[in-house]
Amino acid sequence: MTLSRFPISLRWMAGVAAGLCAAPLLAQSPAAGPASASAPAPAPSAPMTTGPADAGKMSIEVQRARTEQARNQAASCAVCHGPDGRAPADSPVPGLAGRSQAELVELMLNFKNGRRPGTVMPQIAKGYSDTEIIAISAWFADQK
Ligand code: HEC
Repeated sequence: MTLSRFPISLRWMAGVAAGLCAAPLLAQSPAAGPASASAPAPAPSAPMTTGPADAGKMSIEVQRARTEQARNQAASCAVCHGPDGRAPADSPVPGLAGRSQAELVELMLNFKNGRRPGTVMPQIAKGYSDTEIIAISAWFADQK
C-alpha cells in the first residue's frame, strides 16, 4: 500500500491525531463520572478542526501556563528585588525589570554553577531548574 494510492490517508491520519488531542476534553463530559466534577471542561466551541489550528491553540495555552508559573516564581524575588523586579531607587539590590533575558539567564546560571559569587543568590539560584530560570528571566525582561 502506497500513499499515492490512498491520497486521503494523510488527511485521515491528521483527523485521527486531532481526535486524540481532543479526546481528554471529550472524556470529561458529565457522564464521565466524579473526575469531571472538579474540572468542568468547557466544551470545544467548534466542531473538530484540522491539526495545525488545534496545535496552535494548545501551544498558546501551554505558553500561558508557563508564563503564569514564571510570574508566580518571580514573585519570590520581589522581597529583595522590588515588586515586579523594580527595585526602589535607594535599594542596594539591583533591579531586574526590563533587563535582557539573556543577561539575566547568564547571571542566574553563573550564580547557580558557582562562577559568580554572591551573598544569597548562589543559594537561591540553585533552587531553580535551568528551564525555570529561562522562564523567570523572560518574565522579568517583559516588565518594562
Ligand atoms: C533574599 C533576597 C533576594 C532574593 C529573594 C532574590 N535575590 Fe537576587 N539578588 C539579591 C542580592 C543581595 C544580589 C546581589 C548578589 C548577592 O549578594 O548574592 C542579587 C543579585 C541578583 C542578580 C544579579 C544582578 C546584577 O546585576 O548583578 C540577579 C539576576 C538576581 N539577583 C535574580 C534574582 C531572581 C530571578 C530571584 C528570584 C528567583 C532573586 N534574585 C531573588 C537578593 C535577592
